[in-house]
Amino acid sequence: MTTTAYEVIVHKYDVIIIGAGGAGLRATVGMAEKGFATACITKVFPTRSHTVAAQGGMSASLGNMGPDNWRWHMYDTIKGSDWLGDQDAIEYMCREAVPAVIELEHYGVPFSRTEAGKIYQRPFGGMTTEFGKGIAQRTCAVADRTGHAILHTLYQQCLKHKADFFIEYFALDLIMDNEGVCRGVMALNIAKGTLHRFSAQMVVLATGGYGRSYFSCTSAHTCTGDGNAMVLRAGLPLQDMEFVQFHPTGIYGSGCLITEGVRGEGGFLTNSRGERFMERYAPNAKDLASRDVVSRAMTVEIREGRGVGEHQDHIFLHLEHLGADIILERLPGIAESAKIFAGVDVTKEPIPVLPTVHYNMGGIPTNHFAEVVTLKDGNPNRVVPGLMAIGECACVSVHGANRLGSNSLLDIVVFGRAAAIRCSQILTRNAPHRPLPKNAGEEAIARLDKRRYAGGNLKTSEIRLNMQRAMQNHAAVFRTGDSLQEGVQKINDVWKSFGNVNVTDRSLLWNSDLLETLELENLLTQALVTVTGAFNRTESRGAHAREDYPKRDDENWLKHTLTWLSETGQVTIDYRPVHIYTLTNDVEPVPLQPRVY
Ligand code: FUM
Repeated sequence: MTTTAYEVIVHKYDVIIIGAGGAGLRATVGMAEKGFATACITKVFPTRSHTVAAQGGMSASLGNMGPDNWRWHMYDTIKGSDWLGDQDAIEYMCREAVPAVIELEHYGVPFSRTEAGKIYQRPFGGMTTEFGKGIAQRTCAVADRTGHAILHTLYQQCLKHKADFFIEYFALDLIMDNEGVCRGVMALNIAKGTLHRFSAQMVVLATGGYGRSYFSCTSAHTCTGDGNAMVLRAGLPLQDMEFVQFHPTGIYGSGCLITEGVRGEGGFLTNSRGERFMERYAPNAKDLASRDVVSRAMTVEIREGRGVGEHQDHIFLHLEHLGADIILERLPGIAESAKIFAGVDVTKEPIPVLPTVHYNMGGIPTNHFAEVVTLKDGNPNRVVPGLMAIGECACVSVHGANRLGSNSLLDIVVFGRAAAIRCSQILTRNAPHRPLPKNAGEEAIARLDKRRYAGGNLKTSEIRLNMQRAMQNHAAVFRTGDSLQEGVQKINDVWKSFGNVNVTDRSLLWNSDLLETLELENLLTQALVTVTGAFNRTESRGAHAREDYPKRDDENWLKHTLTWLSETGQVTIDYRPVHIYTLTNDVEPVPLQPRVY
């Protein structure tokens, strides 16, 4: 194999954050505020991170639009998770939502306002008052550009607090020592083509989801789950990867997101008969049922011949009746997207929509302090020293089997903040650096070279398309054992075919097919554990809907899936218990119940 003798540039910090989306930036501000020598490594310019695309808002029981209570929010989140969420972590998130959003306001996020000048809050799916009795207005919004506003504000705060940024750096692999402690990360500067070794007391992964393993998703092209893949390569497990959320309203054709805020503001779905079919599937919540419920209902309507359009293969989303003034004030971004991506004037016509891959509930297992945990020596909550994960790459697990809309912006802010709080308790500022293991980073460089000089006969784009098609067809809204088994076989074949990849542009820069190949390798590792986890889970829960096992099976499956991946692509599975207990005596755990909306 051809190799290169690279010069490796060395950096030392107290804390390294990988990823500059909302979670990464919230952690970066927090660490810098607390006096840690802090650096954030990001493969795109911070304000281009995928949080920028988040539309509808961030949940917090402020009670600005009517009575609300964090315990109602907690109940909704547990029910939304189909009881797979860890209740201690959910309690923490819902309680901390209130100070976290106020903090954002003080940082300068320009929230939309009520007449009285309070933060405006809209209804979102599955968010209720009094434990399911009424509809809550809990989602704090900046029109329909909430993520954009939060991301820009946080970046400005990071600059104010003088955090260092390494922009257009692609993280290659974690540096783990022989005791299983994370000591740093290897990264490639894709603007200059140089190699870097970062060492730190704490590495915080904030690398987002892996939506791009599917053919159609709302995720940016950068969403390749790089942190998840590094964790797998470090011999650590991922959790609950079979739970992939389909957002009900991706624009038909492009997959571009149309916020649930549209339905929150009074929009609704219809089939080819003009029926508001959600009334049949969720008599109380209707169009504001949880996303898994709405996506399944839409899929059934289409399957049973009631889809709209020439091929009867999508659904209409109406907001014409809201009127141009409301649309322009509260939903200006989606009016623009619908025009560009569907040629639709939303003040006159419905938007053609289809359930589209949107979010990964699964990821790197952590506790509610953001520390990565693993199952070791019989301990299902063993902390991995030196490593944290936050945001979509993490599985705390606050979303369980299905995330509620607007709990994602909440999650990134609360756990970005929690990571900084925890570091202030367990790290020493500017502590002397322990020398790294002698061979630190060598494996990452060897892998880089292996891909850089790969001389097979398959294009990266060809292999990627095969993976995306297999995931789209075999790990979809509805699943069956047969189809998943075929999916496992296909993804394994694609994985094997990756050994035959041909990299033609061997430069180390961002526009090389080397970078795409490294991202594809990351995606493939996650595709493997996703389909395998899905095949093994013989029940239906949240976003994992098995037609051959249509019921939730608490007796056998009230547990988190853990998946490890060997270098040769072998998946190992184990399980850890769901936390059906709370952190404090302020609230009782929510007992298991049938889940109806
Ligand atoms: O529909 C949306 O605005 C998406 C929000 C979310 O995923 O939380």
